[in-house]
Amino acid sequence: MRRIRHRFAAWAMVFLVIPASAPAAEEMVLSKVMKEQGKSMQLIAGGIAREDYEQVAKASLAVIDPPHPPSTLAEKFRLMSFLGTNVGRFKALDGETKERATDLANAARARNGEATIAAFQRLQTSCLACHTEFRKPFQDHFKP
Ligand code: HEC
Repeated sequence: MRRIRHRFAAWAMVFLVIPASAPAAEEMVLSKVMKEQGKSMQLIAGGIAREDYEQVAKASLAVIDPPHPPSTLAEKFRLMSFLGTNVGRFKALDGETKERATDLANAARARNGEATIAAFQRLQTSCLACHTEFRKPFQDHFKP
């Protein structure tokens, strides 16, 4: 029992990404977060093109901590029941994206163009890794 509660607490801390007391039809917070991630990536690409490293660093930090509405317990359970035993894998992939975004922010702060571009590519690869594994199952489950 203690172990289960501990796991849930860890989960709740990492994934505050599920919608507030919203009707079931409303878009899930995870989907909203992903849209923000897409926007941040566009800002990063635009910043790289103009060598605007402040913009790249700022948008990288937004990838690490994307703005999102608050979540409810009910929605967290929905996501947990979808992920089941894959929770650890999903969290690991999320953690990897955050690490890559941190590297990108550091490269941008150092105003190192080559390193910034390489770090951006590694970040994109980490997004793709999770999409390859989870996007279709997520859509089949929540948007049949
Ligand atoms: C840990 C898993 C995971 C990671 C990491 C991840 N995504 Fe996603 N992403 C998803 C899932 C699941 C969906 C499907 C959501 C849906 O269909 O509403 C998704 C969907 C999206 C979408 C489409 C949203 C829409 O409106 O349909 C975009 C854009 C997106 N992700 C961007 C990113 C970017 C950029 C990154 C990396 C910086 C990233 N994601 C990292 C899981 C992840």
